[in-house]
Amino acid sequence: MKVADIEILQLPKIEDERGNLTFLESENHVPFKIKRTYMIYDVPGGEIRGSHAYKKLDEVIVALSGSFDVVVDDGAATRTITLNRSYNAAYIPHGLWRTLQNFSTNSLCLVLASTEYDEEDYIRDYNDFLRYNSNEK
Ligand code: TYD
Repeated sequence: MKVADIEILQLPKIEDERGNLTFLESENHVPFKIKRTYMIYDVPGGEIRGSHAYKKLDEVIVALSGSFDVVVDDGAATRTITLNRSYNAAYIPHGLWRTLQNFSTNSLCLVLASTEYDEEDYIRDYNDFLRYNSNEK
């Protein structure tokens, strides 16, 4: 995978004087079947989460509140996506090294994942990731 395979998804936004509403459907607005969701929150200032790659897992990341950066690296190029709107989402396919950083105070990150949790799917060492990537080509 390449950083060019990342997509910024525009989720539906129903504007209303009573408050706005955004929704998403598995295999529709999210381009895979959602098997799991998790949240990252209460991140202390300056902390970094998720410096790793997945072999199979695809994900969609949303900033439900606040803002943070998703930094994605394919071994040749990096791309930084700042998420700060509930109706924008980052689609990150498997095979990319990704880091979440620059969390604002009280930010809330929602991750929609295409697989159940499987530690075997993680590549947690950057040099292992580079080796894995070159073997995939
Ligand atoms: P991890 O994905 O390693 O988060 P980060 O890369 O941001 O540090 O997850 C942290 C811990 O939480 C790890 O011990 C595994 C556990 N975990 C689950 O049990 N289920 C899950 O769905 C997730 C995402 C993590």
